[in-house]
Amino acid sequence: MDVRPARSPATTSPTTTVVVMGVSGSGKTTVAAELVARLGWAFAEGDDFHPPANIAAMRAGHPLGDEQRWPWLAAIADWIGLREQAGQSAVLTCSALRRAYRDRLRDGHESVWFAHVTADPALINDRLQRRKEHYMPPSLLPSQLQTLQPLEPDEPGTTVSGAAAPQLVAVAVLDALSGRGRDGPTSTGATP
Ligand SMILES: Nc1ncnc2c1ncn2[C@@H]1O[C@H](COP(=O)(O)OP(=O)(O)OP(=O)(O)O)[C@@H](O)[C@H]1O
Ligand SMILES: [Mg+2]
Repeated sequence: MDVRPARSPATTSPTTTVVVMGVSGSGKTTVAAELVARLGWAFAEGDDFHPPANIAAMRAGHPLGDEQRWPWLAAIADWIGLREQAGQSAVLTCSALRRAYRDRLRDGHESVWFAHVTADPALINDRLQRRKEHYMPPSLLPSQLQTLQPLEPDEPGTTVSGAAAPQLVAVAVLDALSGRGRDGPTSTGATP
């Protein structure tokens, strides 16, 4: 198991927080589980920081607005800060669809590094249709895709295709994390 903190030459942070991002159904939770199994780092599911009202809205098929997302992002950012203070590297799932949301997570948190999991919308839709026991309905996928702003060149992280088996997607993320792509988004593997 690789438990290196994977420091970035571009940051002074002694820890790393991998934020697995992307639209609903892209595979954030699935890939994060693979990463945690390999890294042994702390883990949090961004969904768990939503207040019940946000969950109810999404369950009913209503996309969240910014006024619902900012407090959620603040709670997630607090968790990142606590992990940094504890000297713990971490893996976190968070859709982080817009640049402004990602900037909020990075604000004061040098450890943050994004892993954007992408896939063809038809593949994501198919996965969502099959997925059971989750409040996020497939009907919200179009608005998620509309909201999505891909990583920009000055953002730390990587973009990986989530079309392959989860283990392979995780390896692509770890490859990028261990060297390439530390100074900005890179593409590893085919992105649709
Ligand atoms: N690489 C993969 N190969 C095959 N199936 C996958 C892959 N990644 C995810 N899946 C399946 O697709 C569905 C959606 O994945 P997952 O729940 O991880 O997405 P998510 O991005 O966490 O979604 P949400 O934002 O709604 O929590 C799940 O049923 C999962 O088992
Ligand atoms: Mg999830």
